[in-house]
Amino acid sequence: MNYSEKMLRDDALKGKTIVVTGGGSGLGKSMTTYFLELGANVVITSRNIDKLNIVKEELESQTGGKVLAVQCDVRHYDQVEAMVKASVDAFGTVDVLLNNAAGNFISPTERLSANAFDTIIDIVLKGTKNCTLAFGKHWIENKETDKNVLNIVTTYAWTGSAYVVPSATAKAGVLAMTRSLAVEWAKYGMRFNAIAPGPFPTKGAWDRLLPGDLKEKFDLAKKVPLKRVGDHQELANLAAYLVSDFSAYLNGEVITIDGGEWLKGAGQMNLLEEVPQEMWDMLEAMIRAKKQG
Ligand code: HXC
Ligand code: NAP
Repeated sequence: MNYSEKMLRDDALKGKTIVVTGGGSGLGKSMTTYFLELGANVVITSRNIDKLNIVKEELESQTGGKVLAVQCDVRHYDQVEAMVKASVDAFGTVDVLLNNAAGNFISPTERLSANAFDTIIDIVLKGTKNCTLAFGKHWIENKETDKNVLNIVTTYAWTGSAYVVPSATAKAGVLAMTRSLAVEWAKYGMRFNAIAPGPFPTKGAWDRLLPGDLKEKFDLAKKVPLKRVGDHQELANLAAYLVSDFSAYLNGEVITIDGGEWLKGAGQMNLLEEVPQEMWDMLEAMIRAKKQG
C-alpha cells in the first residue's frame, strides 16, 4: 500500500478559502500544499513574513494555486483581527480556519520560568482562542454559514505528558474548546473537529523535542506498533477530508493518526510485546497447570 498517495479527487476543495496558521513550515506547509493542489485558496500566517513570502512563491509555482501570506502573531488579538480582514479583503470570504500554529520545547517543569510556561500557553491555547473568536464573530455577524474549524492537537491532550507540561495543558484546552464550540456554534453553521497526530518528523518539532543525539537515543518509530513515523501526505489527506464537504456530518470529533502509539503506552499488558513467540507455549502450559491445580 502506498500511504504517500494523494487521496481526494481533483478539485475537491475548489472554491474554498482556507486559513492555515503556521502555514509556512512543517505540517502546516504540507497541508497547505495539498489544499492548493485540490483547488483551494490558502492564507498562510505566522510571525515571519519573509519565510511566508518565500513559501508563497514556491507553492504558487508548484501548484498553480493562490496563496496570501499574512504576518500575524496569534498571541495578539489585534493582529488576528487584522489577519481576518486581510483574508476577507483578498478572497471575499473564508470557509475554513485551521489552527495549526504552536510552540513547544522539552523541559523539566521546575526549570521553567513563569514566562516560559505562559509563552506556550499563549501560542497554543490563547492563539487558537484568538483565531477562533475572531473568525467566529466575523461569521456570526455576517450571517455566513457552512464554516469549518480544524484544530491540531496531540495525543497527550488527553493522556498528559511529562516534560512538555505547558504544551499538554494548552492542547487539552484546545480539545475542550473544540468539543464545546462544536455544540454551541453549530446553530450558526460552524463545525469543529481536531486531529491528534503522533510523530510526524518536522524540523520545528524535532529541534525542540529531540535535540542533539536524543534523535538516535529515542527512536520514536520504535514506540509505534506500526514501527514507523507518519508521512506528511497521510496527515494532509486526513486534514483535506476534514476541511472538505465530504465530512459535513463530522462535528466535535478528534481523530488520532499515530499508528497506535498512545494506546501502546496505555494498555496495561501491552508490555507483553517483548515476550518472544517461542515462550508462549511454555507460558500457556504454566497458566493451564495453575488452573488444574
Ligand atoms: C527553558 C525556555 C526554553 C528552553 C525558551 N525558554 N526556550 N525555557 N528551556 N528550552 C524560555 C525563555 O527563556 C523565555 O523565558 C520564554 O521561554 C520565552 O522564550 P522566547 O525565546 O522569548 O519566546 P519566543 O521568541 O516567543 O519563542 C517561542 C518558543 C520558540 C516556543 C520558545 O521555541 C518558538 O518560536 N517555537 C515555535 C515553533 C515550535 O515550537 N514548533 C514545535 C511545535 S511541536 P524568560 O523567563 O527567560 O523570559 C509540537 C509537537 C507536539 O507542538 C507533539 C509531538 C509528538
Ligand atoms: P513547526 O513547523 O514548528 O510549526 C509551528 C508553526 O507555528 C510554525 O510555522 C511557526 O511559524 C508557527 N508559530 C509559532 N509561534 C507562532 C505565533 N506566536 N504566531 C503565529 N505563528 C506561530 O512544527 P510542526 O511539527 O509542523 O507543528 C505543527 C502542528 O502540529 C502544531 O500544532 C503541533 O503541536 C502539531 N503536532 C506536531 C507533531 C509532530 O510530530 N510534528 C505531533 C503532534 C502535533 P513562525 O515561527 O514563523 O511564527
